[in-house]
Amino acid sequence: MCGIVGYVGKDQAAPILLEGLTKLEYRGYDSAGIAVRDGKNAPVTVKEKGRIADLKDKIGPVESIVGTCGIGHTRWATHGAPSETNAHPHHSDDDAVIGVHNGIIENYEEIRDKLKRNGYRFYSQTDTECIIKLVDYYYKKYGEGPLRAISRAILRVRGSYALCLMFADYPGEIFCARNGSPMIIGKNGKDAFIASDVPAILNHTRKVYYIDNMEMARLKEGSIEFYNIDCEPLVKTLTEITWDAEAAERGGFEHFMMKEIHEQPKAVEDTIHSVTDDKDKIDLSSTGLTAEDIKAIDNILIIGCGSAYHVGMVAQYVFEDMTGIPVRVEVASEFRYRRSPIAPNTLAIIISQSGETADSLEALRKCKAAGVKTLAIVNVIGSSIAREADYVFYTLAGPEIAVATTKAYSTQLVANDLLAIEFARVRGNLTKKQAAALVKELKTLPDKIQRILDDKERIQWFASKFANANDIFFIGRGLDFATCMEGSLKMKETSYVHSEAYAAGELKHGTISLIEDGILVIGVCTQSEVIEKTISNMVEVKSRGGYLMGLTTAGNYNMEDIANFCVFIPKTDEHFTTSLAVIPLQLMGYYVSLARGVDVDKPRNLAKSVTVE
Ligand code: AGP
Repeated sequence: MCGIVGYVGKDQAAPILLEGLTKLEYRGYDSAGIAVRDGKNAPVTVKEKGRIADLKDKIGPVESIVGTCGIGHTRWATHGAPSETNAHPHHSDDDAVIGVHNGIIENYEEIRDKLKRNGYRFYSQTDTECIIKLVDYYYKKYGEGPLRAISRAILRVRGSYALCLMFADYPGEIFCARNGSPMIIGKNGKDAFIASDVPAILNHTRKVYYIDNMEMARLKEGSIEFYNIDCEPLVKTLTEITWDAEAAERGGFEHFMMKEIHEQPKAVEDTIHSVTDDKDKIDLSSTGLTAEDIKAIDNILIIGCGSAYHVGMVAQYVFEDMTGIPVRVEVASEFRYRRSPIAPNTLAIIISQSGETADSLEALRKCKAAGVKTLAIVNVIGSSIAREADYVFYTLAGPEIAVATTKAYSTQLVANDLLAIEFARVRGNLTKKQAAALVKELKTLPDKIQRILDDKERIQWFASKFANANDIFFIGRGLDFATCMEGSLKMKETSYVHSEAYAAGELKHGTISLIEDGILVIGVCTQSEVIEKTISNMVEVKSRGGYLMGLTTAGNYNMEDIANFCVFIPKTDEHFTTSLAVIPLQLMGYYVSLARGVDVDKPRNLAKSVTVE
């Protein structure tokens, strides 16, 4: 996820671009840049690694950049580490085309190969440079003008994009195209604005056009035109934004946590597509892992903290079931001080959203010192854990602002699913066909997550009844126990209600003494092998006064006879049910927190990344 701004009109562009980028830093902040054009002169481009403040420092007095037409970008790296070279804007070699992009071009490598065969060279590691040069290629090859060149290019790419381009032959004009990534076009008198999100332009206008997928726009002072993919003119309605600036940063959601819960379908889809093709084949080459590496693994050691550790608990079941490789899961802060033997031919998987968690980083270093190979599953390109691991699987969740992780957690789940499927295929536990079928099922998860989100009001109604709860228990077996661990943490860290996750079979070994009238116990039952066992544990709880919420898969409607409140998730392969079962539990934590009036996005005592011990 990145932030894009554009402006053309009567005023100087640079101040407007920098102000807009500052408002969009929550969308990405590892590097930034602007390109401003004064009449027919070539654009002046300034780019810098780091935050907008670093870019401003590099520019110096903003008056030094003259021109009333320009584009800008603040980046959340997905392809290519954060650097000045990889920062946007990107340009064709002769500056005929210069542009910025938000989104992910899935087939950028094949496009880059095509362009190289046609004499193009590349200076960055980004997918964006590929699409900019593809537009340039069609612009020069067919000579049909910018809109037709853009149309040809976007018909050729797979993925999501919000594109803003300037053409040397068209001074004072900006061309846009959109598919899947957000973009709005603002208007104030003769001034025209482009932004990834409303906050960037609220100080200048509340009047906006919404450009739809596979549509293009042409902006110049006093004129805003829209076109469909066939370059036919479209008529758009100017609408009024009613949000305040702060609400706009959260995309209209009350909190970043809720916004990020709703970004999970896209984040999961992007992460799956980052290593699969349209034939459901997995390609792990971007991680650096080879088939030989995978065949040499005798043990897997998964290490993380908090939610990342809970992902490891889920991954343990999935890896062992699919590959037969023994898997050990460790809390990083415990592992790093224990003198535990690490067997040779172990693959150590370090899971970390931030890639900066001190305990996880030290655990990684301990594994490397023991001479084993390390794979990082991280969400931040170029983070410490990513840089020090032997292999890296980047999740594409985008910036996660809320302290309580949701979309990063969900992308880590599917990252591990994909690794387990590919490991099993390479090692002969799964046929190519079986592996592809599992990938095909994985690709249904975004829609299934969305279906659960569409029914969130039921969860809100139920959660509000427990705003004053003192204790909430989560019970489950196998994968469901791992899901309970995450559900319990979400409840604790967002609502401050004490909560425990328990292996359902363990309850009778002591903890059940805590169950008394009205205590909420959430039973998670998605694993058919043990569902009857968990249900009988739930009945034990109910007979002692517990108040039951049953979370199970559609079809297990007998849960209605046992639980006081039921939530049914769509059916999926039982290895993947956590990706669905965790959504209602995220919502439970959020809504109980809301009902208790605590700070959902920044809970007390917590930090987004624990970079100290
Ligand atoms: C989860 O909601 C918490 N924010 C916390 O447990 C977090 O998962 C943990 O600190 C690990 O962070 P990391 O993934 O950035 O390493």
